[in-house]
Amino acid sequence: MLDLHDKMEEAAAFITARGACKPRVGIILGTGLGNFAREVKEEVVIPYCEIPHFPTSTAIGHKGQLVCGTCNGVPVATMEGRFHSYEGYSLQQVTLPVRVMRKLGIELLIVSNAAGGMNPHFRVGDVMIIEDHINLMGDNPLLGYNDERLGPRFPDMSEVYDRKLIDRAMEIARLANFAAHRGVYVGLKGPNFETRAEYRFLRLVGADAVGMSTVPEVIVAAHMGMPVLAISTITNVCLPDVLEKADANEVVQAGKKAEPKMRRIVLEILGDLASDGANVR
Ligand code: HPA
Repeated sequence: MLDLHDKMEEAAAFITARGACKPRVGIILGTGLGNFAREVKEEVVIPYCEIPHFPTSTAIGHKGQLVCGTCNGVPVATMEGRFHSYEGYSLQQVTLPVRVMRKLGIELLIVSNAAGGMNPHFRVGDVMIIEDHINLMGDNPLLGYNDERLGPRFPDMSEVYDRKLIDRAMEIARLANFAAHRGVYVGLKGPNFETRAEYRFLRLVGADAVGMSTVPEVIVAAHMGMPVLAISTITNVCLPDVLEKADANEVVQAGKKAEPKMRRIVLEILGDLASDGANVR
């Protein structure tokens, strides 16, 4: 049976053979944010179902293809749609694409997601730049045998979200005149939205927003020594005392509406990288 390292190498070799250029940045597009891939030029598009060992994306609002090309002057690999634990995949499967993009050459991972806002200052359509996370998935992509070629047994998690990029993302939002917050994201497995008591609990333990993704991918990025910029769009407000019914289609629509904000931040960050040409770290 192939191990994780071999699967990663096979998938990366397949993508390279399809003519994708070496990416500097990997971008994972979450719920409602898939249209960002239109910004990628001279692209090579590969459906996930064709890439060896990739799962297929079944979540609503997720297309399921890898788009490699150039975005604002920077070679990127863009995941139009991601995988979730609630689809029945192991977290090793969910995070394989991060490892494959790292193997292809990325030095920065940008992640977007849709999240429920528990901080009472948050409104639907706001953006939250993730400055830290809490893993309440009851699971971890690093469980089991650790292949030292991929990363250490006990990776440091003290500063996975790059501080300079957080500051820069906040500045971009301020200059563009839209609301962005810094905050803590808590990841749960889902697929149900939370009960009032759960939202109250999650707020109490220090989270500002809640979602069903991102944490596994960020753990694997940390395992592979890669900085991360992660952006949540607040698609529903989750105030336990005045909680409204959550609706998955409304979440997708709210994500789509907020997409220009996320796009603005990502394009400008890529523009910075293109103009200074420097390594991220
Ligand atoms: N809970 C969990 N995941 C989510 C939510 C939520 O309220 N909104 C968007 N993704």
